[in-house]
Amino acid sequence: MAQEYRQAFNQAATDPAAFWLTAARDVQWDKAPTQAIDDSKAPLYNWFPDGKLNLSANALDRHVAAGRGDQAALIYDSAMLNSKTEYSYSELLREVEIFAGVLRDRGVKTGDRVLIYLPMIPQAVISMLACARLGAVHSVVFGGFAPKELAARITDCEPVAIVTASGGIEPSRHIEYLPAVAEALALAEKSVRDVIVSHRDGFEHSPSEYQDASEVNWLDWDELAKVAQPAAPVSLDSTHPLYVLYTSGTTGSPKGVVRDTGGYTTALQFSMNAIYDVHPGDVMFTASDVGWVVGHSYIVYAPLIAGATSVLYEGKPIGTPDAGVFGRIIEDHKVTTMFTAPTALRAVRKADPSGALIAAHDLSSLRALFVAGERLDPDTYHFAVDLLGIPVVDNWWQTETGWPIASNPLGLEELTAKAGSPTTPVPGFNVEIRDALGAQVAAGDEGNIVIKLPLPPGALTTLWGNDQRFIDTYLTQIEGFYLTGDSGFLDEDGYLFVMGRTDDVINVSGHRLSTGAMEQVLASHPAVAECAVIGINDALKGQRASGYVVLKSGVDTDEETLKKEIVALVRQHIGPVADFREVSVVAGLPKTRSGKILRKTMRQIADGKEYTVPSTIEDPAVLDDLANYLRPQG
Ligand code: COA
Ligand code: AMP
Repeated sequence: MAQEYRQAFNQAATDPAAFWLTAARDVQWDKAPTQAIDDSKAPLYNWFPDGKLNLSANALDRHVAAGRGDQAALIYDSAMLNSKTEYSYSELLREVEIFAGVLRDRGVKTGDRVLIYLPMIPQAVISMLACARLGAVHSVVFGGFAPKELAARITDCEPVAIVTASGGIEPSRHIEYLPAVAEALALAEKSVRDVIVSHRDGFEHSPSEYQDASEVNWLDWDELAKVAQPAAPVSLDSTHPLYVLYTSGTTGSPKGVVRDTGGYTTALQFSMNAIYDVHPGDVMFTASDVGWVVGHSYIVYAPLIAGATSVLYEGKPIGTPDAGVFGRIIEDHKVTTMFTAPTALRAVRKADPSGALIAAHDLSSLRALFVAGERLDPDTYHFAVDLLGIPVVDNWWQTETGWPIASNPLGLEELTAKAGSPTTPVPGFNVEIRDALGAQVAAGDEGNIVIKLPLPPGALTTLWGNDQRFIDTYLTQIEGFYLTGDSGFLDEDGYLFVMGRTDDVINVSGHRLSTGAMEQVLASHPAVAECAVIGINDALKGQRASGYVVLKSGVDTDEETLKKEIVALVRQHIGPVADFREVSVVAGLPKTRSGKILRKTMRQIADGKEYTVPSTIEDPAVLDDLANYLRPQG
């Protein structure tokens, strides 16, 4: 295997302390770390325990001081408003220091939490960086979640303020955010003092409507900014939490992934050098959402830490106005590096099979396309390679890790790609494949993908307020290793193939969702005795959720009405992002004699895969009956 990559990988594996202290030199520290890792609380680890820094200073002030103040830092391109707005590094710094001043004026202190519920508008980037400037811990919530999900996050991380906007714009409708925030506040524990609202034209509701009936202050962003003084960056411990980002687990309660400051800054800068090959002056366009980890790392933080320009895109891959929009953005902003999800590419291909609408644009600035969020299937990989004629790089990672675990390390050197594989583990991630008993398996054999501890800088340090849940969920199954929850194999050449989740987490359009959470909602319907939700393969969205309910005896109800009610219930409790549209009323669910529902077998039947009926099945006839409902997709 190629030399540069192999050398870096080996160094990181054999002497991680030296490797990461060297990488940390690319970061601007107020106090440079002398110690790489604190293992005194193993299996919990902390990177650079004696370092001090500020991430917003690394993302902004540093570049302005280096003379790049006039370079574009952020380009807000809204297909929904048909507008483009550019912020130079100096301008973005100004906005961030003023909004940090606003938060400080409102009593937000280092360590306080601030919940950010914003669509893809510059205020999202500004408020995240303003929190980082003060050392306030932000928690960004994706706009497609329902008020109940928002409330669960408020209750868990107890923010003192919520930063939001009048609403988000979807192609089909305007989404009013203020009623959702008001509903969430009514449901949640009472920690919030202020709701700061960025005004957008074209929405019905305004903050003043909510003021009278509320104990919380509903405030206007612009009014507060008019009188605020700029805030300087606070020098923070490297271990200080930068953010909490909630992600779906197997249960209904989301997990608050905690990211530190110094390890994350170091890791993101390293990833820009070693993986993405993005440097000052380059333009990165990541078509994701700030509510997801991809948005945190590669829309907001990494491009700015690296001194590049980030494109913030409000719109869809198709329909806004057509399947050529990615090409239009590449041409307009001379994008050098793009990042999207396989679903977006499949949507483009479905709408425009030859990709002619994208190809009609000048794509000559583009050097590489990175793809993540779900497996990049070989068909979609070949479509993108044929269309663009540049490296198309699948990178596999998770909210928990914060940056890629496996990827073609383009910044080190380009390895030969294999369709269906995110190439090889990235330096710092020592990946192994273990069977259910924890034994290592042979090359080519599928098993649990695990990563040797300590995880490299940038990966989660714990779950918010719950070290024990972190340890129980990820660190106890195989001693000394982190369990990713994905299964896959390493081939003879050391290439990793990620085949799917081993738990009840599913990936719909690159959005991570919990079938367990959906089951909780289905079970709450008064007519439902028991239920199962599984993720089944979907040609466009990767997976989609499919529900099966058994009715309580004696319930006499119209099936179609019931199905509609259940679909509406999931939308109401989890949100439109669940994209839950399919539910069947069945006579029974297949179970083991100990009462465990055979979800895996159900999934295999639905996906048209071979399956063996477990010998522990209680009643095989139930499975035969159910097979009629589990029709494979063509
Ligand atoms: N706020 C509120 N609602 C949202 C939302 C947001 N930010 N994002 C999506 N939704 C809603 C949609 O309006 C839709 O609602 P509907 O049921 O009323 O139509 C529902 O959630 C499902 O949306 P979506 O997943 O976008 O499906 P779609 O069929 O409208 O579009 C794609 C299909 C492929 C175009 C779209 O899924 C897509 O762009 N996927 C790529 C996602 C991505 O980049 N993920 C990266 C994660 S790293
Ligand atoms: P999230 O935490 O939302 O980023 O989702 C992480 C999960 O998405 C992973 O555990 C995988 O199951 C899946 N995933 C993300 N990227 C890839 C990829 N490149 N290949 C295969 N699965 C992926």
